[in-house]
Amino acid sequence: MVQQAARHRIGILGAGNIFGRYIEGLRTFPELEVVRVADVDEDRARRAADEYGIPAWGDGDQLLDDDSVEIVVNITPPQFHAKTVIAALEAGKHVYVEKPLAATVAEAREVLGAAAGTTALLGSAPDTFLGSAVQTARHAIDTGLIGEPVGATAFVRSSRAETWHPDPRAFYGPGGGPVLDMGPYYLAALVNCLGPVAQVAAATRVGAPVRTVTSPERVVDEVTVQVATHASATLTFASGVITTTLMSFDVWDTELPRIEIYGTAGTLALPNPNFFDGDVRLKRHDDIDWRVLTPVTELFGAVNSTEQHRRGLGVRDLARAIGGGPHRANAQFAFHVLDVLASFETSQQENRFVTLASTCERPAPRSAHREDLTP
Ligand SMILES: NC(=O)c1ccc[n+]([C@@H]2O[C@H](COP(=O)([O-])OP(=O)(O)OC[C@H]3O[C@@H](n4cnc5c(N)ncnc54)[C@H](O)[C@@H]3O)[C@@H](O)[C@H]2O)c1
Repeated sequence: MVQQAARHRIGILGAGNIFGRYIEGLRTFPELEVVRVADVDEDRARRAADEYGIPAWGDGDQLLDDDSVEIVVNITPPQFHAKTVIAALEAGKHVYVEKPLAATVAEAREVLGAAAGTTALLGSAPDTFLGSAVQTARHAIDTGLIGEPVGATAFVRSSRAETWHPDPRAFYGPGGGPVLDMGPYYLAALVNCLGPVAQVAAATRVGAPVRTVTSPERVVDEVTVQVATHASATLTFASGVITTTLMSFDVWDTELPRIEIYGTAGTLALPNPNFFDGDVRLKRHDDIDWRVLTPVTELFGAVNSTEQHRRGLGVRDLARAIGGGPHRANAQFAFHVLDVLASFETSQQENRFVTLASTCERPAPRSAHREDLTP
């Protein structure tokens, strides 16, 4: 007899820009059911519930009081993550929170402390490292296709948020900037492939100090930048791999690759880690041409389509972990990613190499678990 997967009831906190993409992604998994949406702006929660046919809506307290909600998916802006995640954990909910885990390392530490005091699971974005691209790269490394990894490069270019996000202030405020907003996708991919980082040396600065907002439904016309918008860093991984990174909201056009990993026997080129899927290319030292590796998992959606913008794989990862499966997009992993990225600023301000106090396990590869090969 085929066993029915357990169903998990989800309440979403925050009905802003990325809300629709979560709904679309979560609805691809029959075991996940969105039963409530909450927002400080209750009108926004009501409109979201109407638009997507969600049975209940209200404020954050009503969400926490709803005993039928098992998992809270927190998609509030970064500066609200710590407070709202801790409240949800204390209410006995499992929580999946968007990146970064919290706006600062100190807040993220409080979040970890709160999670340690409960039996609830805490997961955090990004979840794109669970997609076929990064999983295929991980499999290539683990099976020795590039030999011993020696170095890597990672380049974050501007997401031009001021041209499409109605309220891009969070992109230029605490918890934002290229390092904390886009950096988590790149670092999660690298840590998943190469393990934890041991040391960071970085230089950071602000580029243009004021950004003109041109997005069609903008609520502000201008944003004053409060965080570094251009950063260059060298990361030494615990394994000895040395990674060169450039993370910038001032680079709008470039031909630099997204991520490349260099080994003693060859090079791996990864696609945009903000997406789940895409070609992973390999060129071993004795190859004449690059070749595209066969994905080791099913695809989450059509490559180069808006399906790649959906979110939800990380919530499914948490739901399966409730049932005893491996928890890959877990809080310890997200904390280490945040700690590495936050150390860019420490290195700049204190003019020194920063030795990381945190570490994490490389998450279990999806290719090792048959049930994890489907999207
Ligand atoms: N927008 C994107 O493209 C995108 C992509 C990936 C990840 N993210 C992440 O998703 C999160 C949300 O981003 P967004 O762009 O949707 O933000 P947003 O500003 O568009 O929406 C956030 C929503 O949260 C609500 N909110 C704020 N504080 C709250 C609280 N205490 N309780 C309940 N609701 C509260 C706001 O009213 C708003 O409706 C961020 O962590 C961001 O890093 C966004």
